Amino acid sequence: MGVDLAVVPVAGRGTRLLPLTKSQPKEMLPVGEKPVVQYVAEELEQSGIRRLAFVTGPGKTAIENHFDIDSELILSLRENGQEPLLETLEYERMKVEYIYTRQRRQLGLGHAILSARSVVMEQPFVVALGDSIIGVHAQSKVVKQMIDLFEQCRADAVIAFEEVPKEEVSQYGIATVGKEQGNYFELADLVEKPDVAESPSRLAVAARYVFRAELFEYLEDTATGKGNEIQLTDAISAWIRAGGNVLGIPLADGEQRFDIGNYPSYFKAFFEFASQDPKYGESFMEYVRRQMV
Ligand code: UTP
Repeated sequence: MGVDLAVVPVAGRGTRLLPLTKSQPKEMLPVGEKPVVQYVAEELEQSGIRRLAFVTGPGKTAIENHFDIDSELILSLRENGQEPLLETLEYERMKVEYIYTRQRRQLGLGHAILSARSVVMEQPFVVALGDSIIGVHAQSKVVKQMIDLFEQCRADAVIAFEEVPKEEVSQYGIATVGKEQGNYFELADLVEKPDVAESPSRLAVAARYVFRAELFEYLEDTATGKGNEIQLTDAISAWIRAGGNVLGIPLADGEQRFDIGNYPSYFKAFFEFASQDPKYGESFMEYVRRQMV
């Protein structure tokens, strides 16, 4: 059976987006007409994922409510002649099973993934960050490509990368590129948030991964690193040093990662999605153009 399980960590505090995130999850922030995490779930479903395991934490119940089927709301829309709005709830019918587990202390992304160990057990799985969208309207096929590569090469891990401007390398995990093989490359190392001057490349981890369950053993052995958190990057780096076959795949041309974890990037994402909205995009852009003259 192919990889059909994704772990979606959504337990982070989102402090860089305060005060927005004081009482609402950053993963529920609107980007155009949908909350971030809905794009993530739709992208994964299109890539063949059939089980979504969210790692949640305090104040995140809005995410669970969002994916529940709200029969009362459906009935009231029908009774009030608002049937056209039912279309906006189509996502409730996605063919996926939802699993929710908790990260009981916010000790970083690596620790969040470790919290899903008893759900994953021995199977290979995808990790998709709940605060990042890939491609406008999440039409990306990168996860499907990553799963195919993972299976073809019998890799231990496959990671998506995006080239970022030099001054942004210190916000992400950055690749040291090893042997290049057509449309993918072997990873010689992965460094968490390097200084600009010391960065091995401009290839930043783009919020999507496929792993063998052996990852958990490396996460268990990872001491707290930068920010007093258990860093996923440190575990992957240790795996590479131990001989793990870790591959990198760049996002396709025109595919972009929208990181909703900081304001500059969130604003850009909202603008991009609003301007390309099928219904309101054109009038929104007319308004923007009028402001520019
Ligand atoms: P970030 O690395 O942006 O961390 O999370 P954060 O804690 O949410 O944000 P700041 O730094 O306080 O602003 C990337 C993804 O990993 C999840 C987040 O919910 C987000 O979807 N995450 C992060 C966890 O699930 N648990 C954590 O302890 C940290």
